[in-house]
Amino acid sequence: MHIVRWDPDDPEALRYCHEVERAAQRADDPSGPPMTPRELRVFLSEGWEANPCEAWHGSPGNGRTDRTASGLYWMEVPDQENRDRARLLLLVHPACGGRGVERALLRHAAGRARANGRAVLSLLARQGSPVAAFLRSAGATPTLTEVRRVLDLRTAPPGHFTTLRETAAAKAAGYSLVSWLGVTPEPHLAGVAQLLNAMNDAPREAEGTQEAVWDAGRVRQRHDSSMVKMGTRGYSVAAVHDVTGEMTAFTQLEVNPEIPEWGHQGPTAVTRPHRGHRLGLLVKATMLEWLATAEPAVERILTGNADSNQHMIAVNEALGYDVLAPPWQWFELPVAAVPGEPGELRRVPGLTGPAPASDPQARTQARPHGAGLGPGLTGPSRPRHWPHRPGPGPGLTGPGGRPPPRPHWAGLRPGPSPTGRVRIMHFCGLYAFASAKGFPVTKAFPRDSG
Ligand SMILES: CC(C)(COP(=O)(O)OP(=O)(O)OC[C@H]1O[C@@H](n2cnc3c(N)ncnc32)[C@H](O)[C@@H]1OP(=O)(O)O)[C@@H](O)C(=O)NCCC(=O)NCCS
Repeated sequence: MHIVRWDPDDPEALRYCHEVERAAQRADDPSGPPMTPRELRVFLSEGWEANPCEAWHGSPGNGRTDRTASGLYWMEVPDQENRDRARLLLLVHPACGGRGVERALLRHAAGRARANGRAVLSLLARQGSPVAAFLRSAGATPTLTEVRRVLDLRTAPPGHFTTLRETAAAKAAGYSLVSWLGVTPEPHLAGVAQLLNAMNDAPREAEGTQEAVWDAGRVRQRHDSSMVKMGTRGYSVAAVHDVTGEMTAFTQLEVNPEIPEWGHQGPTAVTRPHRGHRLGLLVKATMLEWLATAEPAVERILTGNADSNQHMIAVNEALGYDVLAPPWQWFELPVAAVPGEPGELRRVPGLTGPAPASDPQARTQARPHGAGLGPGLTGPSRPRHWPHRPGPGPGLTGPGGRPPPRPHWAGLRPGPSPTGRVRIMHFCGLYAFASAKGFPVTKAFPRDSG
């Protein structure tokens, strides 16, 4: 299989990757909402949170005669916390499953995770899907299950949300509501940051993942980024504590005008000192009343919660959400448990130096968010259904700290050699081959290179 890096400016790559995504979704999740090419393009380029990420897709054979994609992966390499982890989503065309596509993509991804200095893969797959079965067979351990639920507005009893809002409001004296459309207004950035920090209390995809630390700057740069580029409409309702003026609760929801019958629930949180006043229900019921007038075409709203998140699930069930199968399943797999690809360059522990890559397309670290997105990707908001915006996990946590030491790579000496000759590690076969072909080659040992 020929695996190439996702290029957001290659319309053919987008067409093939979208075919893979659509076919996998039709097979594994026929009742869920579709994803538009534009959403996929932004997702593969920057994910939901605009953390550094990269995507790769594989074609049959050598990729010259057949560029159709058999599968793809998206990998997020958090730069602010959980910097030992990579978050990975594998998608395989159902017509190509079981032919080694999953294995080839996982091996490639593990190589890229290693090149980015990651030790653990957090993997996401639809429960019961062929990819989930493959991950189990590859030794991945299931961690968190994220159950999806749908609220069908067409069958909601008339006045239901108004009644719920009034009931919740009776327990929420001393709070006022604010709302906004689109990106977070400047005066609310700090409040939204506080509430995203409160999201750390939601169950996380794996034990030991660090908490996200949000501030106003991070909200401005990353939280609203993909919704802007995907062109979706974002709705936010928040509760403000009258005495302190603090933002204490919020809920966010997005609608893609290309698929107006689906709404996508975003984060909902209440800050710890203010829990128990039914503020979660208050902001969500108010949101639904607003949506009825602002987005009358919306028929169903999709949300997703860790199966152990009883407090959020209680609110959603009160609103009338029903389970939608299949859930998303998180897995964990040490990178070291995945065999390297033939010819993959391995890190030499304890030495430092920049990381080359065996594939010239992979010479750089994961692209920072948004890199390479073309024109025309503007608008107010983002959907979180694919996968549903997860609880805070890799990419959403932990105070700065020093970046991990840059790895030293055996195999290639970083930068041009002082003699102008390519330096290759003491590697007899490669040395003999290169010499025989007339390449200017010298032998170098790992301790030479650094
Ligand atoms: C889910 C959440 C928004 C609900 O908050 P809320 O609206 O204040 O909850 P309620 O007022 O309905 O609380 C009902 C009861 O559960 C308790 N409760 C609510 N959230 C709780 C939590 N995270 N931990 C412990 N108890 C909690 C309340 O104190 C209250 O107890 P009481 O009946 O004895 O008074 C809140 O728990 C939260 O912010 N969780 C973290 C973020 C999160 O999980 N978001 C969803 C991600 S998918």
